[in-house]
Amino acid sequence: MLRDVTGIRYVTPLREGGSVPGVVEADDLGTYVVKFRGAAQGRKALVAEVIAGELGRRLGLRVPELVRFDFDPVIGLGEPDEEIQDLLKASGGLNLGMDFLPGSLGFDPLVFGVEPAEASRIVWFDALIGNVDRSWRNPNLLVWHRSTWLIDHGASLIWHHNWKTARTAAAKAYDASDHALSRFSPQPAAAAAELAPLVTAELLAEVTALVPDEWLADEPGFEAPDDVRRAYAELLAARAADIHERITLAPVSRERQPPPEWLRTWVEGKNA
Ligand SMILES: Nc1ncnc2c1ncn2[C@@H]1O[C@H](COP(=O)(O)OP(=O)(O)OP(=O)(O)O)[C@@H](O)[C@H]1O
Ligand SMILES: [Mg+2]
Repeated sequence: MLRDVTGIRYVTPLREGGSVPGVVEADDLGTYVVKFRGAAQGRKALVAEVIAGELGRRLGLRVPELVRFDFDPVIGLGEPDEEIQDLLKASGGLNLGMDFLPGSLGFDPLVFGVEPAEASRIVWFDALIGNVDRSWRNPNLLVWHRSTWLIDHGASLIWHHNWKTARTAAAKAYDASDHALSRFSPQPAAAAAELAPLVTAELLAEVTALVPDEWLADEPGFEAPDDVRRAYAELLAARAADIHERITLAPVSRERQPPPEWLRTWVEGKNA
C-alpha cells in the first residue's frame, strides 16, 4: 500500500512543471510535490506515476516515495493566481504526492555523469514504460546527495489513452535518440538481461494494485478497476519480453570515439 497523508499547508506552486504541481506540507511532517488530479493531464497521469514509479523502484531505480495525498482546497485559499486556484479547487480529495527532495538539482548531461550500467537500466526502463519525457531538454532526473533520482512518469504508458489501440501502440519501438542519458553509453540489451526477468506477473499485479480504484473506475471498455489493472500488467509483461530489440539509440558522440588511426600515427610521429 502507498501511505496516506493529509495536506496541512500549501507552500508554493512549481511553475516549471507543465501540470503545475504544488509543494505541500503534510500531517506526517513531510513535504511533498503534489500532482493534482484536477490538472489538464487528468487522472491517467497519476495512474502512470504510480505504476511506472513503483515498478522502477522495485527494479532498483531511485524514485522518491509516492503517497496517497488527501488535499483540502481550503488550505490553498491563499494562492493568489486564479488559474492555480481553479486547479486546487478541482482537486479536493485524493491526489498523488511524491517526497520532496530538498536542495536537489535538475540533472544536466553536460555537468553530471552517470555510470554506463545505470544509464543502461534507466534507458531500458524508460523504453519499457514508453517514457517520452526524459530527453536532454527535459530530463526529469534530479541529483540529490550525489545520486540520480527519477521523477515525473506522468506522460509514460501513453497507450492507456486509447485502450482500443493499446496493444498495437505498446508493440511499437522506443526512440531513445534524444534521451537525457544517451551520451553515457547505455546498453539497454544488457540491462534487459538483468531486469526483464524481474518483471513477473506477481510484480506487475503488486504495482497495479497500488493504483486507487477511483482513478480506474468507469474506464470505457472495462467492467471493473481490476480489469484495467490486468490490461496494464499484460501490456507491460509483453513489452518487458522484447522491447530491448526495438530501442533506437543516438549514434555514439564523436568526442567519445577513439581518434582515427591516421591521427594517432600523426601524433605519435610528432612526439617521436
Ligand atoms: N520530488 C521532487 N523533489 C524536488 N523537486 C521536484 C520533485 N518533483 C518535481 N520537482 C521539481 O518540480 C518540477 C516539475 O515537476 P514534474 O516534472 O514532476 O512536473 P510536470 O508538471 O509533470 O512537468 P513536465 O512539464 O515535465 O511534464 C521538476 O522539474 C523539478 O524541478
Ligand atoms: Mg517534468
